[in-house]
Amino acid sequence: MQKAVLITGAGTGIGKDTAKRLVARGHKVYASTHHESEVDSLQAELGTGATVFKLDVTNAEDRLQIANLNLDVLVNNAAQSESGSLAEIDINRVRRLFEVNVFSSLELSQIAIKSMIGRGGGTVIFISSIVGRVPAPFLMPYSMTKFALSAAAAGLREEMKKLGKGIHVSVVEPGPFKTGFNQKMSDSRFEWMEKGSLFSKDQIEQMKNETNKTLNWLEANSTDSIVSKIVAATEAREPKLRYVAPLQFALLVRLLRILGK
Ligand SMILES: NC(=O)c1ccc[n+]([C@@H]2O[C@H](COP(=O)([O-])OP(=O)(O)OC[C@H]3O[C@@H](n4cnc5c(N)ncnc54)[C@H](OP(=O)(O)O)[C@@H]3O)[C@@H](O)[C@H]2O)c1
Repeated sequence: MQKAVLITGAGTGIGKDTAKRLVARGHKVYASTHHESEVDSLQAELGTGATVFKLDVTNAEDRLQIANLNLDVLVNNAAQSESGSLAEIDINRVRRLFEVNVFSSLELSQIAIKSMIGRGGGTVIFISSIVGRVPAPFLMPYSMTKFALSAAAAGLREEMKKLGKGIHVSVVEPGPFKTGFNQKMSDSRFEWMEKGSLFSKDQIEQMKNETNKTLNWLEANSTDSIVSKIVAATEAREPKLRYVAPLQFALLVRLLRILGK
């Protein structure tokens, strides 16, 4: 069955790849971008199966655009990144990150839920992260926003069951994918750490090398596995609470749960 689906932050990466797949599967796709400058090229890439427009999730006026789209599914994909030690990161960076990744996604979801209730139901999907389940040292500013989203999704899902108006809530928790997101996160961290940090120059250099090695080793080149999970949540009559990919990360989370971590 064709669904009307909005994906935020669809100008790049997982959001863009999801938009492409949903268009190919015949859905009515609204692909929103962070910046106006991305609109024309994304529209050309996605073709007539999609409507592309600029939606900065932190902008209240932009968010209101979705009220009359008659959405069946909202995919809260837009996010930014910040990393570094909680002992020294400028808390304003963390505050801004919560504004984009958590508060703005929730405000957008509230608008979508209101309109979905009027139409007899729908699905809200939050793109969280594997580090929204497993805390990762030096990634905690980002990790905390994703813990908040994973928890919000689980709680909101139960609230919507109680409401009984056909609103489903799911969370998708990707492992690492080579979209440029993780590299950008680490580049920005080392930029501010090099200007002044509790950690020595040698420690910073070592961290840099370790981060690059870890990313090279862990990041999946293709987003196919995670896009499939987002599509599964989008198309399901009764979507599950949680979707994780790639498989080895889904298994890792289960194992950590069994071990009580
Ligand atoms: N890649 C990974 O390893 C990984 C792992 C776990 C979870 N995730 C999650 O997967 C989702 C997609 O990430 P990705 O890897 O595809 O990275 P990405 O290509 O950077 O996608 C994030 C998108 O969100 C946009 N965005 C940022 N702030 C926004 C705002 N205020 N309003 C609207 N759009 C905004 C970005 O635009 P600009 O670049 O112009 O700011 C970008 O297009 C994110 O939620 C991310 O946290 C990614």
